[in-house]
Amino acid sequence: MSDVYGRGLNYERPPFTFQSNEWEGLARNRMSQEALGYVCGNASTGETYEKNRKAFKKWSIVPNRLVKTTSYPSLKINLFGRELPSPVATAPVGVLRIFNPDGEIAVAKAAAREQIPYIYSSAAATAMEDVAKANGDGVRWFQLYWPANEYNDITASLLKRAKANGFSALFVTLDTYKLGWRPSDLNNGYNPFLRSDSIGTALGFSDPVFRSHFKAKHGKEVEEDLHDAASEWASIIFPGFSHGWEDIAFLREHWDGPIVLKGIQSVQDAKHAVELGIEGIVVSNHGGRQQDGGPASLDCLVKIVKAVGNKIDIIFDSGVRCGADIAKAMAIGAKMVLIGRPYVYGLVLGGEEGVKHVLRSLLGDLTMNLHLAGIPSVSQKDLNVDSLEYSDY
Ligand code: FNR
Repeated sequence: MSDVYGRGLNYERPPFTFQSNEWEGLARNRMSQEALGYVCGNASTGETYEKNRKAFKKWSIVPNRLVKTTSYPSLKINLFGRELPSPVATAPVGVLRIFNPDGEIAVAKAAAREQIPYIYSSAAATAMEDVAKANGDGVRWFQLYWPANEYNDITASLLKRAKANGFSALFVTLDTYKLGWRPSDLNNGYNPFLRSDSIGTALGFSDPVFRSHFKAKHGKEVEEDLHDAASEWASIIFPGFSHGWEDIAFLREHWDGPIVLKGIQSVQDAKHAVELGIEGIVVSNHGGRQQDGGPASLDCLVKIVKAVGNKIDIIFDSGVRCGADIAKAMAIGAKMVLIGRPYVYGLVLGGEEGVKHVLRSLLGDLTMNLHLAGIPSVSQKDLNVDSLEYSDY
């Protein structure tokens, strides 16, 4: 990634600014009201979202001097038995075609080009087979919105398809059994599943078990009544009520790769995941979109790392907006960081090239941040909590 900066002023003209904190503002002017409300919206008053951002400011990266190095910092990590060139992945984000007609395909291609793992959302607007093709040799993971137990046959079918299409880890999102109280979407009457183009339903509509379930229940094919089929799919992936810990056994039985629980915020839940032999957790509050008045995700990370940091792979998201944010989360103990809204802004501003620009910019920023702080790699021996100072800004 150092080449982004290494080429310095000779870098080809960027599709839009390198200034990461301007991406949202630029994208806001280029979106429909529905798309804007969906990506920028938060639960209720947005308190959790604001806390996510503020928490980063309390930590500072204290530089060391006269650290002799001959190369730019290494961003390499090892995760789920595989070496990855950088410590970021694209967070699962639903209905990406609302932001650009190429949606998931554009993101999957950009991620593959940058050797960044791509996480496919259960609420995607493009079938997983097509996304897998676009992602090619890239590393890809599948995010499950988990149907209620009565639809275990549908869950098993989704997992089977994911495996067959090269998705190598399963991310189970636990914080969204029902969509949050999001005033922006409520005001716009926006429901990604009940649009005339049924944009968040591609995974369901292409699933043979869902299709036969729909036919048995409604006496018609999906194509004959997109509206009914869309609400059926929504009611299956957002069942309204949560599973229990005991239900994870079913996933283990039907998935032979790593399982990662997304949406963990309490130490108790993190310990529970360890006890069950889960491979990873994503410390996340869904970017403040699900429950308001909750803690900053970074504050949760501090406590969870202290309790179980050496027992499970910890991935982090919610509020990451620049290279220093990635460095701080990793210094605290995250192994990897998910980029969420920023790449969606890139998609709005420039399609596949826009996503690529966002990902490269963030990694360029991270590289230079570490380099100038005298931190030679993202491994815990070089980048750890001793690299940080806490103050109450
Ligand atoms: C999301 N997120 C999300 N998570 C998930 O597990 N499945 C999904 O389909 C979605 N969809 C989605 C749509 C949009 C528009 C956003 C902004 C987010 C949550 C996402 O994976 C991640 O947790 C957050 O985006 C992190 O917060 P920030 O850093 O983007 O604010």
